[in-house]
Amino acid sequence: MRVVVVGGGGFIGSHLVDALVARGDEVQVFDPFTSPAHPGGARPRWTNPAAAVCPADPRAACRRFAAVAGRTDALVHLAALTGSGQSMYEIARYSDVNATLSGWLAEQLVRGVVTPGRFVLASTRAVYGDGPGDCGACGRVALRPRTAAALRAGRWEPPCARCGGPARPVPVREHDVLAPLTPYAMTKVYAEQVLAFAGQVTGIPVTPLRLFNVYGPRQVPGNPYVGVVSAFAAAVLAGRPLTLFEDGLIVRDLVHVADVVAAVLAVIDADRPPCLPVNVGSGTAASLIDVARALGAAASREPVLRVSGESRVGDPRSVVADVTLAKDALGWSPRRSLAEGAASLVAWLRDVGQGAAAPLADAAHELRRHSLMLGAPSADRSDAGFVDRGHAA
Ligand code: UD1
Repeated sequence: MRVVVVGGGGFIGSHLVDALVARGDEVQVFDPFTSPAHPGGARPRWTNPAAAVCPADPRAACRRFAAVAGRTDALVHLAALTGSGQSMYEIARYSDVNATLSGWLAEQLVRGVVTPGRFVLASTRAVYGDGPGDCGACGRVALRPRTAAALRAGRWEPPCARCGGPARPVPVREHDVLAPLTPYAMTKVYAEQVLAFAGQVTGIPVTPLRLFNVYGPRQVPGNPYVGVVSAFAAAVLAGRPLTLFEDGLIVRDLVHVADVVAAVLAVIDADRPPCLPVNVGSGTAASLIDVARALGAAASREPVLRVSGESRVGDPRSVVADVTLAKDALGWSPRRSLAEGAASLVAWLRDVGQGAAAPLADAAHELRRHSLMLGAPSADRSDAGFVDRGHAA
């Protein structure tokens, strides 16, 4: 099989390329190797030598792209900037890489420049925002995004969007309401929709995979916008305290990169790839405290936790995948537990010796500088006098 991977040099891409090469597929990568995913613009040493690599954005190498991607069995689009926090103050850059590049690829499909047998897009659970909840009074409802006033007062749980009462978060399904909370998530909504449009026009099957919080080896902790699992793992190994925002009970669905690769391969190999978004998560909830404990156990070290009470603007409180559709449409199920995944990440970090990286302070500092990190609730504060961003007149 011939597979083109846009963004094939990154964290998920490098694992996918290894898997494709291992089974004998011919692989072409387009990746400009830019920061922050590639600190210093360096090509990672685990880049597979058996794959052909064009070190450029396909828009900058459009002739080569048209030549090699013209007719291919599968085109996989993983190229993106992924920092939800960073996207809030680098909106133009995120729009260019995540939205405009996806629009450009859609245009290449519509113009017939490339005619892949199928197209796989890495989308995200961030498109759901806070996702759905179960409200005692209203049933299954959307959750209302938390206001700055609520966060400053330590009211962490998002309420029922209909009645404003308490609602328990429930696993999100693909047809739940899209409610992106950050520019990053908005760019991914656009990418899904514009590529679905191109798929409809051309008849090329387009499958957006809504990836939940992906982690595992090669998620480089030297990048300040790296996911929390990698950043916490590096801190545990370096003996530094872990800073848990809010009350430490933010919940995520952590999916190991090997499971994500298996999901992409399932689309590549499907007789009839689903032409609709598919959740790819572990289907299980893990709080930040669970993550810290799992990493501590994997590293045989007691993690030092600092629950800061701060909150990131645009953060959902709790999102877990319903993975029924992935099972039904792709025959795919998540396999790695958090304990196994944490062990694989810790082993890799020990191997590459990057445990001393201290990326998170930089990311949090930038958010504070742009007023995108809210201070901890304090006992003597009341809501009075606080401006509720987005709700103030
Ligand atoms: C992550 C991905 C995003 C992906 C999405 C899908 C990264 C950088 N972002 O976004 O690309 O689409 O998952 O689910 O991988 N936190 C702390 N302390 C810290 C750092 C983070 O408490 O020091 C908290 C954050 O506030 C957040 C949670 O941990 O609530 C996860 O943060 P993060 O790993 O940055 O990921 P997401 O924003 O969920």
